[in-house]
Amino acid sequence: MIADESLMDFLDESVSWMRARLDGFVPEVAVILGSGFGPVARAVQNPRIVPFAELPHMGSSSATGHVGQFVAGDLGDKRVLVMEGRLHGYEGYSAQEVAFPVWLMARLGAKVLVTTNAAGAINEGYRVGDFCVMADHINLTGRNPLTGKAPDALSPRFLSMLDAYDPALRRLFLGNAAELSVPCQEGVYLGLLGPSFETPAEIRAFRTLGADTVAMSVCEEVIAARHLGMRVLGVSLVSNMACGIEGANPSDDEVHEVAHGRVEDFTQLLQAFLKGL
Ligand code: HPA
Repeated sequence: MIADESLMDFLDESVSWMRARLDGFVPEVAVILGSGFGPVARAVQNPRIVPFAELPHMGSSSATGHVGQFVAGDLGDKRVLVMEGRLHGYEGYSAQEVAFPVWLMARLGAKVLVTTNAAGAINEGYRVGDFCVMADHINLTGRNPLTGKAPDALSPRFLSMLDAYDPALRRLFLGNAAELSVPCQEGVYLGLLGPSFETPAEIRAFRTLGADTVAMSVCEEVIAARHLGMRVLGVSLVSNMACGIEGANPSDDEVHEVAHGRVEDFTQLLQAFLKGL
């Protein structure tokens, strides 16, 4: 458990521990692989693996299909530090605990964060299997990792969220998708705490708020990344239509099955994106 007063010490300790464990490896890009995206980590060359549970002060991942390990190595001509799996608020982790590995990867040197998840589509023009670049988010988790005193000591807490999802990185990824003929949308992502799925009434309400996709992760990570100045790309895979759309009734199994089938395309896309960075 990370208490506000222990955050800075825990972070310093974890940064030193990880540096030593990875022989001074300095990542250029941090990547978070969400539901179903985990196997993308197998494409990392010269991989070095650190289970979340070994890192001091880091929680372990209990979500289905989230292996829960860091993979450091080379991908698409960049040095990457990949999280194969993530921590979610719905697992009982605080916003700061969810943000902790993002702050850690930033402190280790990563200047860019690529974060991914499976999401339900609220926009009826989207199709299951499409990717969707996040243009912006609506944080309805009710939480923010910058509350409390410690994050303000790390970096000022009144953070601008204008262009939180970097416009140039979005353009680059959309260009890669067009070149590879992979269907990719661009839309507003709405993040919730979960773990129950939404009601059809909530989905209708979220549509009027301007959301195109919905899931249970990402917002807290992106706030933490921007807090330490990382440039962010967020990509969802549309694993299902949101509850009530065309009779959809999403389940965890469906989410994983669909995401699994899109791993190869995403691996290619990510490699092209990293080369173009
Ligand atoms: N709702 C919330 N989270 C999700 C969904 C959804 O429809 N699909 C994948 N993650």
